[in-house]
Amino acid sequence: MKFDQQNINTFKDLKRVAKSYPGRLLDVLECFSQNQYDCKTWLIDCLNQYPYHFKNKTKDSIDIAVLGGWYGLMAKLISTSFNLKPIDSIYSYDFDPIAKKIGKTLFPEITFIEKDIADLDLNDKHFSIVINTSCEHIDQSLLYKSIDTAPTNTLFVLQSNNMSYVQQHINCVDSLQVFEKQYESRLDKVRAYELHKEKYTRYMLIGVKR
Ligand SMILES: C[S@@+](CC[C@H](N)C(=O)[O-])C[C@H]1O[C@@H](n2cnc3c(N)ncnc32)[C@H](O)[C@@H]1O
Repeated sequence: MKFDQQNINTFKDLKRVAKSYPGRLLDVLECFSQNQYDCKTWLIDCLNQYPYHFKNKTKDSIDIAVLGGWYGLMAKLISTSFNLKPIDSIYSYDFDPIAKKIGKTLFPEITFIEKDIADLDLNDKHFSIVINTSCEHIDQSLLYKSIDTAPTNTLFVLQSNNMSYVQQHINCVDSLQVFEKQYESRLDKVRAYELHKEKYTRYMLIGVKR
């Protein structure tokens, strides 16, 4: 193993998590696993190539929301690797108060907000992009509500998977076609993608709110 100052800083962060939230250590390690990283960098690669959205827009910089943002990995990666526009702010929403506390210690530059998506009205905020990589964890009616409250032309990026054997996965999809069908009346200019992993498939849609 290569060992340098970056490793030392990472171990320091993990020690803080283990001390303050020992029951969360495995969940934090899962959040920062190779698999989670691959799915999120895949999202950013596809988003950076999405052809339609920012061509004729006048805004100099944009705000981005991540829903079900967990400990902030998606927000952190998008803050460093999104390259279609400068980013003004990134908000990571999650209803788990401990996810917010841990996320804030790891990534102080991200704004973490403790909120249930059920209570979120995206119309107030004018995010240019809303990302939700936790669709498999969230009731379908809430996913629809998050789109329905957003202004027309908001760009949505959604991920789900077919791992229905996991207890917390209450809303998996069996195929990319099913996932696309769920959003066809709400999203326009949709690009659909799938990523085959060893044990499951992850699905992704990028589209513009009608
Ligand atoms: C296990 S994690 C994320 C897994 C996903 N594959 C990813 O990396 O984005 C799911 C997150 O969604 C959050 N979540 C689930 N339902 C929610 C809701 N109604 N409002 C806000 N956050 C929610 C959970 O608290 C958790 O942090």
